Amino acid sequence: MYAWAGPPFICIRFTPAVFALTNPPTIGPEALPALAELLRQAPPSRLFVLADTNTARDCYPHLRPYLPAHELLVIEAGEEHKTLATCAEVWHWLTAHHADRHALLVCLGGGVVTDLGGFCAATYKRGLRCVGVPTTLLAQVDAAVGGKTGVDFEGFKNHIGVFQEPEAVVMDPSFLATLPAGELRSGYAEVIKHALIADAAAFADLRGLAVATVSDWTPIIRHSVAIKENIVAQDPHESGPRKLLNFGHTVGHALESYLLAQPGRAVRHGEAVAAGMVCESWLAAQRGLLGAEELTQVREVVAASFEPLRFAADEIDAIAAYALHDKKNRGDSIKCTLLRGLGHGIFDQAVTLADIAASLRAYLTF
Ligand code: GLY
Repeated sequence: MYAWAGPPFICIRFTPAVFALTNPPTIGPEALPALAELLRQAPPSRLFVLADTNTARDCYPHLRPYLPAHELLVIEAGEEHKTLATCAEVWHWLTAHHADRHALLVCLGGGVVTDLGGFCAATYKRGLRCVGVPTTLLAQVDAAVGGKTGVDFEGFKNHIGVFQEPEAVVMDPSFLATLPAGELRSGYAEVIKHALIADAAAFADLRGLAVATVSDWTPIIRHSVAIKENIVAQDPHESGPRKLLNFGHTVGHALESYLLAQPGRAVRHGEAVAAGMVCESWLAAQRGLLGAEELTQVREVVAASFEPLRFAADEIDAIAAYALHDKKNRGDSIKCTLLRGLGHGIFDQAVTLADIAASLRAYLTF
């Protein structure tokens, strides 16, 4: 294990149980009973459940038997509702039901619900109790772990938000059975990412695996969450090693934002990140940080679960330009996480628009 001591250019090798979050998530069939036990041991003054139209239908019936009396608010599903207007709806609901700071909000949903609900809980009367019950693979392995909360604003994703760990996160992988295949794939990109930045053995395990063939997600989620926890525990507020978690996202966000702005071409976050990981691995290979055979392995693991993204060569400069808007940048310099070998991320690597464009051109030849 190389623990972060301040400067950039650091590799992190994942070693279980060296760093841990104060409240590690409960993952598996024991998750919902654990929530019931928490509510028995430390009863809130009032209990509130926030769901969206999908999770109210598919997941709430499974959660409900584990909860004492509560109020339920159902918001519209979808990233377009991850707004301050929806927050106002939640704050209004809490106020109307006389929630005090000893009330508890259960956020039942994917990343939109856990991010938005976590933000509402962190800010309402300067903070009420909050438990995350993530229901998508993306939320279970990524969004609901590590205390990032927030909403989109003026076209920028997660532009307004705070770091606030919930009191608990409980994950029941049986919720994943309700997900469309594309949504599972989207979360799987983050599983690949965690392995690539911190655990070569985990990456080796993913070789030959395709999302469609996974029958039991529990061990994969447990391991992937452990990798993320380990990194977040070292750097909760992203001044150092947490930036490793941005691997694939510099090019990925550029692709996602560009395609979102094109009518009918929006792609899921994970599909863009999967392509971004291939591009950023290519950049690492160009710098001699990753071998040709290692780059091939990254491409194969991604190709086993993701269709190639479609864009034309003459769109590349416009796509790359989106990378200038990345939250990770400092001034005009684009900072990227690359790999120094499989399982070893390095953060704060300066890249240029020309580098990003070159990686997108290379992607089109794969
Ligand atoms: N999703 C990246 C992070 O939590 O830092």
